[in-house]
Amino acid sequence: MKKDIAVIILAAGKGKRMKSSQPKVLHTVAARPMLGYVLDLAASVKPRYKICVLGYKSELVKEYVKKEAPGFKIVIQKKLLGSGDALKQAGSILKNFKGTVLVLYGDNPLLEAQALKKLIRQHQQRANQATLLLADLDKPAGYGRIIRDNNNNICGIVEELQANDFEKDIKEINTGIACFDKEVLFRALSRVKLNPRKKEYYLTDVVGILHKQKALIGSLKIEDFRQANGINSHSQLSQAERIMQERLLLALQDKGVIIIDTSSTRVCWDTRIQAGTTVFPFTVIERNVKIGKNCRLGPFCHLRNGVVIQDNSVIGNFTEISRSKIGKGTIVKHFCFLGDSRIGNNVNIGAGTVTANYDGKRKSVTKIGDKVFIGSNTTLVAPLKLGKRSSTGAGSVLVKNRNVPCDTTVIGVPARPLKKKK
Ligand code: UD1
Ligand code: CA
Repeated sequence: MKKDIAVIILAAGKGKRMKSSQPKVLHTVAARPMLGYVLDLAASVKPRYKICVLGYKSELVKEYVKKEAPGFKIVIQKKLLGSGDALKQAGSILKNFKGTVLVLYGDNPLLEAQALKKLIRQHQQRANQATLLLADLDKPAGYGRIIRDNNNNICGIVEELQANDFEKDIKEINTGIACFDKEVLFRALSRVKLNPRKKEYYLTDVVGILHKQKALIGSLKIEDFRQANGINSHSQLSQAERIMQERLLLALQDKGVIIIDTSSTRVCWDTRIQAGTTVFPFTVIERNVKIGKNCRLGPFCHLRNGVVIQDNSVIGNFTEISRSKIGKGTIVKHFCFLGDSRIGNNVNIGAGTVTANYDGKRKSVTKIGDKVFIGSNTTLVAPLKLGKRSSTGAGSVLVKNRNVPCDTTVIGVPARPLKKKK
């Protein structure tokens, strides 16, 4: 029978190398805090216990965890005394637990469930006391190196700071992700000594202790070494961003979205686009955006938070849209700004149209009915409603609250109804 699993995510660290006042695990990859990916990953193995260890600005991170993954128990590491000390803090919750402890690091957003499941399977089938997820890296700098004895058994992990030149050449590294037998782990943790140079208790010292006790230490080499990326710096964060973008764009392509240039297209982790839509280069999509099928986006368009674009619409060059809904078959082709707007079906928005949605104090809504025709360079001062099939003349300025009735054309500055010739 599969043994019970307790997952512990270590996320207490400050992330000194980020030189940021924000806790490291809240820095985002594809617009999602990196911890979010790890919370999902932890849940994917269906553990009995889900624990997250927080420390630096714990209130802030706790708020995020509570919102994103309310099932997690939160433990606070009061003093940031290293990854070994962080793990120890989860001990009291697991007092009555027997089984496998899976350790995840909050700064490792690229790991995928498949690798993790393989690690757990191997650990439990072979009845190891510890099973480490390892990777071979051409540039191992910064990572803990794996030390093996003459029989190729793992006998310890040496951290970069303590490594001699010979050890620094070792390309086999510790990803930090590991499975342990719970009892064995906590017994070993209590024997880890403070590292005199870094003044921290290294979790990785557990491995040397277990080796001395002749414990069964297994390992699994991760096939896709990019998943091993731990994020300590902004340079590593931007590398992770690139890898995540590739993944997200590939997933969209597999669903039938046509992406002309993946290198200049940016999406978010929650971007939804349906099949048959074409995304031209330099399209930037922010959080919480949904796009229907057979649309055309870009080149050079910026879709911001909370945008919904329905089927068969065209969003063209140099167009920025924010918190707006665009109906079916609507065309917004050239340099526009639409904010807080509700736009109907089969609307034509002329070049240079601007919704003036912000008066310096508050934001207001612009509503545009079905089949409206907005002439080029129209300014729409919100709040404003344009009835179905109405139209505006080129260069007109519509003032706020002066709603346009259905089937009416308005022109000029300020815009007034066009008198029909008799
Ligand atoms: C760690 C590993 C290293 C491994 C690398 C993989 C240790 C000692 N070293 O190094 O072998 O190759 O990750 O990316 O673990 N944390 C706490 N409390 C603390 C300190 C850290 O919770 O007091 C957490 C951090 O939030 C982070 C994780 O532990 O999620 C690892 O800490 P970090 O400082 O990033 O360790 P690395 O130097 O990257
Ligand atoms: Ca790290």
